[in-house]
Parts: sequence; C-alpha cells; structure tokens
Amino acid sequence: MKEKLEQIQKAAIEQIVSVTTADELEAAKVKYLGKKGELTAILRGMGALTAEERPIVGQVANNVREAIEQAVSDKRALITAAEREKRFEKDKLDVTLPSKRRGLGRIHPITKTIYEARQIFLDMGFTIAEGPEIELVEYNFDALNAPKDHPSRDMTDTFYIDKLTVLRTQTSPVQVREMRANKPPIRIISPGRVYRCDPPDATHSPVFHQLEGLVVDKGVSMGDLKGTLDMFARKMFGPETRTRFRPHNFPFTEPSAEVDVSCFACGGKGCRFCKGEGWIEILGAGMVHPNVLESCGIDSHVYTGFAFGVGMDRVTILKNNIDDMRLLFENDLRFLSQF
Ligand code: PHE
Repeated sequence: MKEKLEQIQKAAIEQIVSVTTADELEAAKVKYLGKKGELTAILRGMGALTAEERPIVGQVANNVREAIEQAVSDKRALITAAEREKRFEKDKLDVTLPSKRRGLGRIHPITKTIYEARQIFLDMGFTIAEGPEIELVEYNFDALNAPKDHPSRDMTDTFYIDKLTVLRTQTSPVQVREMRANKPPIRIISPGRVYRCDPPDATHSPVFHQLEGLVVDKGVSMGDLKGTLDMFARKMFGPETRTRFRPHNFPFTEPSAEVDVSCFACGGKGCRFCKGEGWIEILGAGMVHPNVLESCGIDSHVYTGFAFGVGMDRVTILKNNIDDMRLLFENDLRFLSQF
C-alpha cells in the first residue's frame, strides 16, 4: 500500500509539473485529491488494515497529500505569474511615442456671442422662447402690423416658400407666437437665424442671427427698455459703455428707435473702428405697437410692452474686430481656430 501511495505521488507530481494552464492544473488536482480521486480511494481502503499498519500508512498518506498539495500550489503560482506576464506583454504601451493629434472642435464665434448675450438676459430674469425658421406670413408680417405694401414684404427682400410661408426675415414673429400663447407678464428673449435676399458681401449675408427681446406687463415704459439695454450693453461691451436711442420706424413698435452703443474701441471719441462717429449701431427697439398687442388678444389699454432685436453677427464682428462678415460663414478652419 505504501508503494502504491508513493507511485501515486510520483505520477501526480509529474502530471502537475507538466500542465500549462490553470484548467489543466485544476483537473489534475481533482484527479488525485478530489472526492473521487485516486488518493481518496486508497484512504477509504484503510479500514482493511491492521491496527499496527494503520498509523504508518496513514502517516505516509498524509505526506503524499501534502506533497501533492504543495506541488499544486507551487504550480498555481507559476501559472498566475506567467499569465500576468502575458497580459503585460499584450498591454504594453510605449508612453514615449508621440500621440495622434486630434483637432478639438470649438464653439463658433457667433454661437459664443449668442451664449454670452443669452446669459446676460437670463441673469435679468428673461426666459428663452423659440420659433420656427419657416414662418407664416401672418406672423412675420401681418400680425406685426406691417402694411400690405411694406417694402420688406417684397419678393426681392424676402425668401417666399409659397404665398403664405416665408423664411422668417426677423425674430420678431416669435413675439406674436409668445403673446398669443401666454398671458402677460411676458419676459422672453429669442435668439435665432433669420433670412433675407441679400447677396453676401463684407457686411451682408442672406442668413444671419438676431436676438429678440419682449417684455409685456402693466406699466412697462420706455425707461424700462432703456435700462434693460443699458445693462445689456455694459455687460456685453464693458462697464463704460453708453447707449443712444435715435428715432426710427418699425411697423410693430411705436415709438421706435435704432440703438447705438458708444464705441468700445475709442470710448466715443471717434476712431477708425466707428468710422469717426463714436457710436456703433447694434439694434432696433421700441414700445410694442397697440395694434400688435390687440392682434395677439392683449388689451392695449391695460398692458404695455417693449421689444428689441439685436444683430448677433454684427456684435460678433465688432467685438472680435472681424472685417468681413463672410468669414463667419465660410467655415475656414484657419479663421475659426483663432477663437
Ligand atoms: N425686427 C427688427 C429688425 O429686424 C428689429 C426690432 C425688433 C425692432 C424688435 C423693434 C423691436 O430690424
């Protein structure tokens, strides 16, 4: 029996030494030490031994089991180390190699201006409203009090989709949508793209961006408009900036004004930047015309409102000293990557 045990030990250790994977090692272990393993089978047969033989054989059997277990654990350590080595080899990374250059995208300068303006008005308590770029003539012109023969309605100025639909020429139709959908108090801004039949040149583009503002409530005055735009101008162009209202005419506001900001390059003295004027025009504004309030179901005897529309492309060009509007739309990376 002792010999048999020694044979098992020899065979087991040979097998264990020769395996190469964790699975094979596990199989070998089960084969010898498992419940139905060879060593276990022999130990079960010990009952047939005499009382003197039993402790001697038992001692040998224990030694054999320990030897096999030791062999298994030595081998397991080797296999684990080898596997780790393999994994390291596979995952090897040369950190000294130069990396692939990935061009990071940037925010377009117009988008940047819009984000900035939007935040200024959000801080003042405005919320953001949106309207479609394909707009009804009703909203773009009729409800905004534009006379039937107003020049802006002309086919040469406006892109018509059909008789009733246009590419909006201004963000002002969002005013109508907002007033028809909500009761005052209303305090919204609406940034977005607008379209006009202008051939592209240094100062024109057939698509450009406006940011509309509308406030309607009881007792809203021209002073509120002036205060709001002053605050906007100071935040957008610097704390020294002043605004100037010049009388103008829009069908949907009365009175109406074009609004200039003091030149942020020379502070108002007059320079190349403002063409010696000291002032730069950036927006149109006024008190919402009673006809517009009424066409939207708002009682013009109870409520008043102001509205304004800022040219975002113009602001972008001015703030960044860009001398040709077309640069904003050509998507030339050499230009865009400067921002
Ligand atoms: N919609 C006008 C424009 O495109 C700007 C404007 C907006 C004027 C709101 C007055 C009030 O020129």
